[in-house]
Amino acid sequence: MHHIGKTRIPAIGFGTYPLQGSEAQQAVEMAIGLGYRHIDTAQMYGNEKAVGQALRSCGLALDEVMVTTKVDPSNMDPERFLPSVERSLEDLGIDSVDYLLLHWPSRERALGQTLELLAEARSRGYSQHIGVSNFTCAQLREAGRLLPGEIATNQVEFHPLIDQRPLQRLCREQGVILSAYCALARGAFMEDRTLQSIARVYGKSVAQVALRWIIQQGVAAIAMSTRLENARGNLDVFDFELSDDEMKAIGALRQAHRRLVSPAQWAPEWDGPAEGDKE
Ligand SMILES: NC(=O)c1ccc[n+]([C@@H]2O[C@H](COP(=O)([O-])OP(=O)(O)OC[C@H]3O[C@@H](n4cnc5c(N)ncnc54)[C@H](OP(=O)(O)O)[C@@H]3O)[C@@H](O)[C@H]2O)c1
Repeated sequence: MHHIGKTRIPAIGFGTYPLQGSEAQQAVEMAIGLGYRHIDTAQMYGNEKAVGQALRSCGLALDEVMVTTKVDPSNMDPERFLPSVERSLEDLGIDSVDYLLLHWPSRERALGQTLELLAEARSRGYSQHIGVSNFTCAQLREAGRLLPGEIATNQVEFHPLIDQRPLQRLCREQGVILSAYCALARGAFMEDRTLQSIARVYGKSVAQVALRWIIQQGVAAIAMSTRLENARGNLDVFDFELSDDEMKAIGALRQAHRRLVSPAQWAPEWDGPAEGDKE
């Protein structure tokens, strides 16, 4: 497995939304069996117990598989934050996660307050690293100012159909790992001709080419699959390299700027593409 950034997050992680109960457990067991070493969950997904069961039954030492979980927006207040993290750890059956993230920027609580709680969770040993998710450039800049050097990652929607270049540049500047969720755009680009023709060149699938495009930019990808063949294929992206021209050709698809995840109750005012980036 290849790793990204100074906290060495696996280049390809396994997502668990919207899997529940035994389906979630079986999918995570399958993923670990295939070689995935990073499992992404969240309080909101309601599957931390199932993920915990899989971690215990997979036959590996608990510290061999990295785990990310995320604090739900409803747990951002000081009375609920740390107890919610304690509950997550109990459900997962581990003393500490590798990455603890704020799932969405809070609308009710000041960023300084939620970051302080996040940092406190880390000081208590509840997490090795801390980070955020769905933060815009302005919010990430502010987080970097409030907790310099401490934000390990910003997990955001990232795939060939969305233009996240402003955020990507900021992450690079700040030494923050950009983590890509919906890395496969939930299947939205499978019929794309550019991706299909590049896939043919390497004898790879469209999904593999898209994942390769992501990790070749130093972005950590998270993909979910319940199917053995897909989950195995999504991990098999380390034996080929896209040329500069192919990277550019796939990059041009970003013009579509299709965002799949933007829940009205939590979504911030998203960054648009930068003027200078328009192709
Ligand atoms: N931080 C956040 O706010 C946030 C938001 C959304 C998601 N996430 C995380 O990111 C993870 C991934 O995102 P996602 O699950 O929404 O979307 P995704 O990974 O882009 O897409 C998952 C879908 O793609 C299909 N698929 C997987 N591999 C495939 C392949 N090789 N060929 C064709 N189809 C394939 C899967 O179907 P099969 O099961 O049939 O293979 C599944 O329906 C989530 O599970 C979650 O952990 C985080």
